[in-house]
Amino acid sequence: MNFNEKYGAYLDEFNTVLNEFCNGLDCRPEVLKESLKYSLQLGGKRIRPVLALATADLLGLESRKIINFALALELIHTYSLIHDDLPEMDNDDYRRGKPSNHKVFGVGNAVLAGDGLLNTSYSILLKECRNGAEYVSASEYICHCAGVYGMIAGQSADLLHENDKSFNELTLNFIYENKTGKLIMAPIVTASILSGGKYYSELKAFGRDLGELFQITDDILDVEGDFSKLGKSVGKDKEEGKYTSVAVYGLDGAKIRADVLAERCRAVLEGIDGDRGFLVGLVNYVRNRKN
Ligand code: IPE
Ligand code: IPE
Ligand code: MG
Ligand code: MG
Ligand code: MG
Repeated sequence: MNFNEKYGAYLDEFNTVLNEFCNGLDCRPEVLKESLKYSLQLGGKRIRPVLALATADLLGLESRKIINFALALELIHTYSLIHDDLPEMDNDDYRRGKPSNHKVFGVGNAVLAGDGLLNTSYSILLKECRNGAEYVSASEYICHCAGVYGMIAGQSADLLHENDKSFNELTLNFIYENKTGKLIMAPIVTASILSGGKYYSELKAFGRDLGELFQITDDILDVEGDFSKLGKSVGKDKEEGKYTSVAVYGLDGAKIRADVLAERCRAVLEGIDGDRGFLVGLVNYVRNRKN
């Protein structure tokens, strides 16, 4: 199987579980259920679930052991996007090619949809904890990545540094590592934890670099991307005075940084035994992506 076929196979496996989850949602009122399903079923690259399944494969971990963690992570990620788009955050009207959640359901319902996805993902994780100590550790790690020492901290710093022209690399690194990096590291490190800590340090380093690379290419696409491929507005970072890699290093500097990180990701993977081909392909995809 080539890279695209393999990505498609992971995607199918994940989407089956996600669709089952959506079809089983039975909350009321109807607007709550519809607002949750709307954002979840719009699509998206599902890169975090794909990373979970691919890293599990590399480590010889059965996919059924990690699939609910992949689901919990995609719920957390989707909630972060709904809140990220709110008028008082990034004020984005489009997401995944369609109007943002708050444009369809209103701000109040969008806040609740995000809260609902977070809460439900924690219920999924709690259920997983019944399966044993490594499931508890994996759940704790995901909560850490999503919370005030992870994504929330990054989003808070992202808001704090709007229109900050100080160009401090440490500030940029803090924002990146937390708002995006932690939720990219989470599926990779979760696979290691569930495998009894196999290649833990290597995979953590890989996840950290891939997370930074992912956000740099997101920033580059905000300048050079195409709405029809991206499914979200372009030029917003400059408009909102965001503290991005493009603002700090310039567009060419951001691309050089992206190349360095992609190389570092490939180098870390070299130290891991097994079929690394798909993950190497994923690094190249993240570096060169158009969506
Ligand atoms: C967008 O994430 C937000 C960032 C962390 C840059 P994705 O680019 O993974 O969004 P979807 O899930 O594919 O829509
Ligand atoms: C968002 O970063 C990170 C999270 C949602 C946690 P961005 O604000 O750059 O993501 P996009 O560009 O809106 O997808
Ligand atoms: Mg944002
Ligand atoms: Mg945004
Ligand atoms: Mg962005």
